[in-house]
Amino acid sequence: MRKDPARPSWADVTPKHLFLNRRALIGGALALGVAAPVAAKIAARPSPYSTDAAPNSYEQITGYNNYYEFGWDKGDPAQNAGRLKTDPWSVEIGGLVDRPGSWPLDDVLRTAPAEERIYRFRCVEAWSMVIPWIGFPLAALLERAGVQPGAKYVAFQTLYRPEEMPGQRAPGIDWPYVEGLRLDEAMHPLTLLTYGLYGEALPNQNGAPLRIVVPWKYGFKSIKSIVKISLVAEEPRTTWKELQPREYGFYANVNPAVDHPRWSQATERVIGAGFLTPRRATEPFNGYGDQVAGIYQGMDLRKSY
Ligand code: MTE
Repeated sequence: MRKDPARPSWADVTPKHLFLNRRALIGGALALGVAAPVAAKIAARPSPYSTDAAPNSYEQITGYNNYYEFGWDKGDPAQNAGRLKTDPWSVEIGGLVDRPGSWPLDDVLRTAPAEERIYRFRCVEAWSMVIPWIGFPLAALLERAGVQPGAKYVAFQTLYRPEEMPGQRAPGIDWPYVEGLRLDEAMHPLTLLTYGLYGEALPNQNGAPLRIVVPWKYGFKSIKSIVKISLVAEEPRTTWKELQPREYGFYANVNPAVDHPRWSQATERVIGAGFLTPRRATEPFNGYGDQVAGIYQGMDLRKSY
């Protein structure tokens, strides 16, 4: 675990923004009996899209996770995700695009300069955190791929590798995990293709090496460890909607007025705030309404939940 969870200083980052697999490097160095390299800092510029709320600690962000491929408890991903091999990694970009193919991770990451964005992250289970993510707009990658006119949605798929993901050997979910966004949601500048947090490469439990973060939606839309991105004409399958359609819809916009059938979504527990601190009132669109409410004009968001 990182000892100093303070915000990274922009002065001490190296110009190298590309991902380094710290665990593999350290493992390799130990095997060779040489000194392990220092963790690479990602040179990222602060983004104006950030909230000014104070971030949660690195320990909270990396120790309290949902990643069902590694178990059902919040502590399971931190315990079990270390075995996942994230190097080499490539992403298959396909469907209605001009330049389909298997894109090596380094090529994906060359799309745009790294930005640090501090986003409020709200889970459907009524807790929240504030996380300093590192990434770039998903729109930049989709533009590089060349979105064709018939595309209306983007479908995402997580790695399927049961040897390294013990949850995938258990029944319950039709693996691999899949998610989707409407094309305008995917192209929205707030939607971040994310590969780091707190100035370092993403830890495995947070979705290494590449995940989505959609700050105005419940956390389950933010799919981790992505291996496939497809531009499609029809609304794609999504794991949670398939599992519990009454509880999890395709849109999953944070909405304090629409309760989950089994609990209220009006307030949230801020992770790390202590039990005496009152719960926080949940904001429509997780506080990002000024930027995104317009794209849902004319829709009944109680029905399209
Ligand atoms: N992606 C995959 N592949 N598998 C998962 O189980 N869980 C989702 C989402 N992405 C999940 C996933 C849920 S329910 C949440 S709340 C967020 O990841 C949690 O992200 P975090 O652990 O970085 O906070």
